[in-house]
Amino acid sequence: MSRVELRRLVESLALAMLGLVMTGCRQDMHDQPKLEPLEASTVFDNGAGSRPLVEGTVARGQLRNDKLFYTGRTPTDEFVTELPVELDHELLNRGQSRFNAYCSPCHGRVGDGDGMVVQRGFKHPKSFHEARLRESPVGYFFHVITNGFGEMSSYAAQIPPDDRWAVVAYIRALQLSQNVPVEDLAAEAIAKIESHDETATESPAEAH
Ligand code: HEC
Repeated sequence: MSRVELRRLVESLALAMLGLVMTGCRQDMHDQPKLEPLEASTVFDNGAGSRPLVEGTVARGQLRNDKLFYTGRTPTDEFVTELPVELDHELLNRGQSRFNAYCSPCHGRVGDGDGMVVQRGFKHPKSFHEARLRESPVGYFFHVITNGFGEMSSYAAQIPPDDRWAVVAYIRALQLSQNVPVEDLAAEAIAKIESHDETATESPAEAH
């Protein structure tokens, strides 16, 4: 064996050893001496790896003792009639973005219940512009988003409580926008409607 060949052999052996050492480390990192969540163990009599939480324990930041804010109901269980958060442009913009993402596929962009999923066969929800829903308190809408309603599932997992209130505020804005008496409109708005008379009944969702 020439010297060059010998050097190559030693080099490749060294590389192979290095590889072994490194995978060894990797394995150690993978199999740490700790219990994964819900893993069994022999530490406790019942075979569980961890202790049950002490009753009444609340994780930091998860104390939901503001009933009105988290359920939309007053202490006497009636639906609240006023938003428990400040109503401003930012809230409405947030509500619009969440409504368009999570509700419009069924309820339509203007809340008439004519979203794409409904057009493809899902149950037709009532329009938010019918009298009963225009008169429903804000807490009712919060409650439906939180708990679902009939065929509609709960959106509590997707939409955190503050965003739910933003959606509710936006629904109110939609309800107002679809029912403004003409005399309450600014003169330019009336002129605009009159000049587009034949398209005036087209919903904004279609008109873009
Ligand atoms: C997958 C389709 C779908 C989505 C998405 C959806 N809904 Fe619904 N929603 C329905 C249907 C269908 C009903 C009627 C259910 C029934 O009568 O069984 C309904 C009912 C409601 C009602 C009750 C109306 C009444 O008649 O009292 C409210 C309020 C409501 N939805 C709000 C929302 C809001 C807000 C969102 C978004 C966070 C949302 N929905 C998302 C399909 C949907």
